[in-house]
Amino acid sequence: MPLLWITDPHLDRAGPAATTRFLEAVQQSDGDPIVLTGDISNAARCVADLERIADATGGPVYHVLGNHDHYGASVGTVRDAVVALAERRPEIRWLPPAGLIPLPDGRLLLGVDGWADGRHGDPRSTPLVLNDDRLIEEIAAEESRAGKLAVKRVLADADARRLATLLLRAAEAGADRIVVATHVPPFIEALAPESREAHPHWHPLLVCGATGSVLRRVAARHPGITITVVAGHSHRACQVQLLPNLRVEVGEARYGAPRVMRLPS
Ligand SMILES: [Fe+2]
Repeated sequence: MPLLWITDPHLDRAGPAATTRFLEAVQQSDGDPIVLTGDISNAARCVADLERIADATGGPVYHVLGNHDHYGASVGTVRDAVVALAERRPEIRWLPPAGLIPLPDGRLLLGVDGWADGRHGDPRSTPLVLNDDRLIEEIAAEESRAGKLAVKRVLADADARRLATLLLRAAEAGADRIVVATHVPPFIEALAPESREAHPHWHPLLVCGATGSVLRRVAARHPGITITVVAGHSHRACQVQLLPNLRVEVGEARYGAPRVMRLPS
């Protein structure tokens, strides 16, 4: 039985019928772990939605947070809420603090949220803006574009450091196959080439350069470790082999139609 993967379900945008279909698909996990790569809903209901998913699967849910999960609140309060959730319901685990998770197929799972950090493309000249700038408190508090970008870079860099720590621990533990769950694609190569999101205007908003640098460095240093990265955020399916031992898969998503996929083997 393959493991299940959910990305960008945006349950706040899904109607009752679509949500019921989604939760029925979640039940197929048969108690195996589910990997969830963010944008569950928004800050007001993210915890309740995680519980609904966990209730449906009956098994553990390992997740990262997406940018939308902070909409309407702050990064600090949402993190506090998911940490408290894990204390109350230990089967629902936010991955950055959860550490290394052995999967039933023998792989080791770890994850960080990731933030689009403007390390690709030109963040100062792109005409595009995400709602992050006004709906996430820490970012909205900065008035200037440069100030908002600085906050995103601090978040991205902290996640990249956490990712480096977890990958090092996995290597020291002798892992040979690692699954990295993250919300924001770490490479521009992971933006579907034919999609509008592949345009350089999108690069500053859709890619986390900080986590990408860590992944490339660790994969190059440890050719014996195979790393599979699963991500969301762009909503465009894309599979790319960055290095012989580093592969990225971005999951397709559509507002109003949450779905369940198989975790790439
Ligand atoms: Fe999303």
